[in-house]
Amino acid sequence: MKILIAGGAGYIGSVLIPKLLERGYDVSVIDLFWFGNHLPGEVSVLRKDIFDLEVGDVKGYETVIFLAGLSNDPMAEFSPSKNFVYNAAAPAYLGYIAKKGGVHRFIYAGSCSVYGYTVNELYDETSPAVSNYPYGISKLQGEQAVIQMKDKDFSVIAFRQGTVSGYSPRMRLDLVVNTMFKTALIEKTITVNNPSIWRPVLGIQDAASAYIRAIEANGDISGIFNIASGNYTVGEIGDLVRNGIREHLKIDVRLAINHIQDYRNYKVSIDKARKVLSFHPKQDVESIVKDLVANLDKFKDFDNPRYYNIQVFRTLEKPEKTAK
Ligand SMILES: NC(=O)c1ccc[n+]([C@@H]2O[C@H](COP(=O)([O-])OP(=O)(O)OC[C@H]3O[C@@H](n4cnc5c(N)ncnc54)[C@H](O)[C@@H]3O)[C@@H](O)[C@H]2O)c1
Repeated sequence: MKILIAGGAGYIGSVLIPKLLERGYDVSVIDLFWFGNHLPGEVSVLRKDIFDLEVGDVKGYETVIFLAGLSNDPMAEFSPSKNFVYNAAAPAYLGYIAKKGGVHRFIYAGSCSVYGYTVNELYDETSPAVSNYPYGISKLQGEQAVIQMKDKDFSVIAFRQGTVSGYSPRMRLDLVVNTMFKTALIEKTITVNNPSIWRPVLGIQDAASAYIRAIEANGDISGIFNIASGNYTVGEIGDLVRNGIREHLKIDVRLAINHIQDYRNYKVSIDKARKVLSFHPKQDVESIVKDLVANLDKFKDFDNPRYYNIQVFRTLEKPEKTAK
């Protein structure tokens, strides 16, 4: 089966793709390679913007996956107009040409950020999605654009992913667990900006299994799915990272607790993904920390700008006046 992955050279794609090759899939990637190429040599890669693809380019693929765009709030706020183009228009365009080209399934990497600020309720896919910030708004727009294209011949599976964490060959140190892990090792302190807010955390191995479940799901399945390994308060994440570092690296780290207002606070139910996709996460913050420790030698150059999306993006884009 042939699979085309836009943005496949990123953090999630670099873990997912080796697993797809292992299962015998024929994988092609189109990507702008903002963060380099860490993919196995047998993957066919094309340096291209999604907007330069045409219907002919997607013909013959069974599944097309969108893993591209601006993948966090700082990038979105640095360049709000690019954010809406790459996060809302690009998946819409890719979905449109995929459907026109006879592709059978489209998988979209959305985000739990669409839930914005909620008050202590467990949100499922029918709960209101209201975000006031460029990243959350654009991820919802991308989702709406692709989900409304679904029909009996074109399956659309749209994920709302929690914050992904863990080791990837294309490493990111700007994601909550990874960031705490890195600062703990550099500063011997974990700073928790607000201990009471909730975040769904998604271990990167669990993220890869979610995509595999979606690729292999029955052809008539479509829909929006929350995907997470578990819900945690940020205060608890801090404790678990500290305990993991003490246990596995024998290093004592202190916690610095602040009470800074955050505009994102949500916890999600993954019942639908369990029931419909057979998605059963195996990771938790403890196992994510263990995974980071096991791979530490591969990302010890903590100040490599490639580990921080906004640092690379700043060199590619000029800030917009509206961003301030
Ligand atoms: N990592 C997370 O915690 C997380 C959580 C929720 C949702 N998501 C979503 O999952 C997707 C993948 O996340 P990631 O962490 O792997 O991202 P990433 O930033 O590591 O990778 C994104 C990749 O997309 C490429 N790209 C961007 N725009 C492109 C375009 N127009 N054409 C071709 N290539 C383009 C970049 O070069 C990069 O290789 C994103 O859509 C992100 O919004 C990520």
